[in-house]
Amino acid sequence: MQISELCTETISQFELNQVPEELEALKKEMASSTEPYIKKTLHLSSEREVILTYWKPNQGSHIHNHGESHGKVLVVEGEILERHFKFDGSNMELLDSNTFPEKTCLDITPVNFHSMTSGDNPTTTLHIYKPKIEHMCVYNETTKKLEHVEGGKAARCEHE
Ligand SMILES: [Fe+2]
Repeated sequence: MQISELCTETISQFELNQVPEELEALKKEMASSTEPYIKKTLHLSSEREVILTYWKPNQGSHIHNHGESHGKVLVVEGEILERHFKFDGSNMELLDSNTFPEKTCLDITPVNFHSMTSGDNPTTTLHIYKPKIEHMCVYNETTKKLEHVEGGKAARCEHE
């Protein structure tokens, strides 16, 4: 599959050219990792951030947001189930869920919380955020509280 065929107008050719090699490195790293997904930053400046993520099958992020950043997530290989939520101060209300197959894009907006879960096969996603993520809120389902996480960290709770 050619990534350049996909909705990549905001990702530079230089960044796209890094994907095959970096993806191979992530796949090797994943072979000995216990993490549900691992990621590599391809570009980071105050204006924008580009991240390649490799997911084991049927693994999810916690519910989170991206601070003030907008973005797009391109499903390079595999499949992503995205759920949107609204936070009422203690509980997360599920608003909708959508499945994104290979070669489709999720839109990231600052308004809602979301979670992402990979499908039955290993999944690769390419993320772009503008501006770079300064901070995120991650929802701890046990304590029903939000945890503030610095940008660049995984959307996981510190204490599970
Ligand atoms: Fe996210």
